[in-house]
Amino acid sequence: MSELKEFYTLANGVKIPKIGFGTWQLPEEIAEETVLSALKTGYRHIDTAAAYGNERGVGRGIRASGLPREEVFVTTKIPAEIKTYAGAKEVIAKSLENLGMGYVDLLLIHAPKPWDEMHAGGKEPHYEENAAVWRAMEEAYDAGMVRAVGVSNFQKDDIENILVKGKIRPQVNQIKAHIGNYPEALADYCRSEGILIEAYSPIATGRLLRDGSIAAVAEKYGVSIPQLCVKYLLQKGLLPLPKTTHREYMAQNAQTDFNISSEDMAFLNGIKAASSRLTDLPNIGKKLESQLKAVGIHDFEQLSETGARKAWLAILENDPSACYHRLAALEGALRGVEKSALPAEVKEELKAFVRAAKGQKA
Ligand SMILES: NC(=O)c1ccc[n+]([C@@H]2O[C@H](COP(=O)([O-])OP(=O)(O)OC[C@H]3O[C@@H](n4cnc5c(N)ncnc54)[C@H](OP(=O)(O)O)[C@@H]3O)[C@@H](O)[C@H]2O)c1
Repeated sequence: MSELKEFYTLANGVKIPKIGFGTWQLPEEIAEETVLSALKTGYRHIDTAAAYGNERGVGRGIRASGLPREEVFVTTKIPAEIKTYAGAKEVIAKSLENLGMGYVDLLLIHAPKPWDEMHAGGKEPHYEENAAVWRAMEEAYDAGMVRAVGVSNFQKDDIENILVKGKIRPQVNQIKAHIGNYPEALADYCRSEGILIEAYSPIATGRLLRDGSIAAVAEKYGVSIPQLCVKYLLQKGLLPLPKTTHREYMAQNAQTDFNISSEDMAFLNGIKAASSRLTDLPNIGKKLESQLKAVGIHDFEQLSETGARKAWLAILENDPSACYHRLAALEGALRGVEKSALPAEVKEELKAFVRAAKGQKA
C-alpha cells in the first residue's frame, strides 16, 4: 500500500500523513483546482505558507473537496521576515482567515532568518526574535488554533535556542532534503530530539528529473525519477512534500509500493558529492548576487569579462545541463574571474562552482 494512507506520529501524539503535497510556486488562481485534484488523488496533507500567497486558494480547494476538515492535515508557515511577537500574532490570525479555517494542523517558522540574510549567509542568528515568534505560536497552540508547532530551515543551534527558551518543543523541522542532498548530521540530531524531518524540494524543484544515474536506478524498479525520490526519503524516515500541477504526476508520485534495496540506497547516498552543489544553484545564484550587490555590482552587465558574464548567466539560468554545455565558457570565466577585481570570496565561489560542474560532467 502507498504511504499516502500511512502516518507518522509527532512527539505530541498528533498523526501526520507520511506524504504531503507541496504548493510553493502555485499561483493563487490555480491553487484551488490543484489542491482539489491532489485531494481527489488521495493526498490528505497539504503544505502551504503565508509567503506562497496562495492560502486562500488552498483553503477553497480543501473546502471544495467536501472532505471533513479533520481528514486533511494542513501546514502553513510564518514568513521568515516576521521576527516579533506582535507580528507573529497578526500573521497567524491572517493565515487562518485566508485559509478560512479555525485551526491549522501544523504551524512552522519559515526560516530562522529573513530570506535575504539566509541567501547571503548572514551570521546574525536572531535567537531572541525567534523565541518571541515561538511564544506567539505557543499561545496559538494553547488556544487550539494550531495542533502542532515546528520550524523550517533551522540548524542545530537554532533548534537548541527554541528548546532552551520555549515551553513547547518543536515537533517538526522542514528542511531541503533529496537524493544528492541529505543533511545527515542535522537529521540525526532532529531524530535524537524527537523532531520529525519533513523533506522539502524532494525532486530538487525538478532538477533531479534530468539526472542520468538516478534514472538508471529508477528504471531498474520500473518507476519514475520522482517516485524514486519520494521513496528514497520515506525509506530514510523523512516526510516528503512533492509538488506538481499535473494530475497524473500526483498519482505517480504517491505510488510507493516498492522497496529500494540497501545496495541501491547506498548508491543513491553516494550521489551526494557529485550533485549537491549543482542542485543548489538558486541559492548559489542568490548568494553571489547579494555578494556582488555588496560591492556595488547590481547588474551582471557590469561584470567586465565576457567569460564571467556567461558563467553568471549559466548560474542564473538555474539549469545544470546548461552549465555542463557552457563548460568551456565557465572555464573561460574562471580565467576572467581570476584577473577581475571581484572580491576574493566571490572569486572562490565561482571557482568552486566551475570545479563542481567539471566533476559532475566527468
Ligand atoms: N520550507 C521551505 O523553505 C520550502 C522551500 C521549498 C519548498 N518547500 C515545500 O516543498 C514543496 C516541494 O518542493 P518544490 O516545490 O521545490 O519542488 P519538488 O517537489 O522538488 O519538484 C517539483 C517539480 O518537479 C516536477 N514534477 C513533480 N512530479 C513530477 C513527475 N512525476 N514527473 C515529472 N515532473 C514532476 C514539477 O512539475 P509540474 O509542477 O510542472 O508538474 C515541478 O517542476 C514545495 O511546494 C513547498 O511546499 C518548502
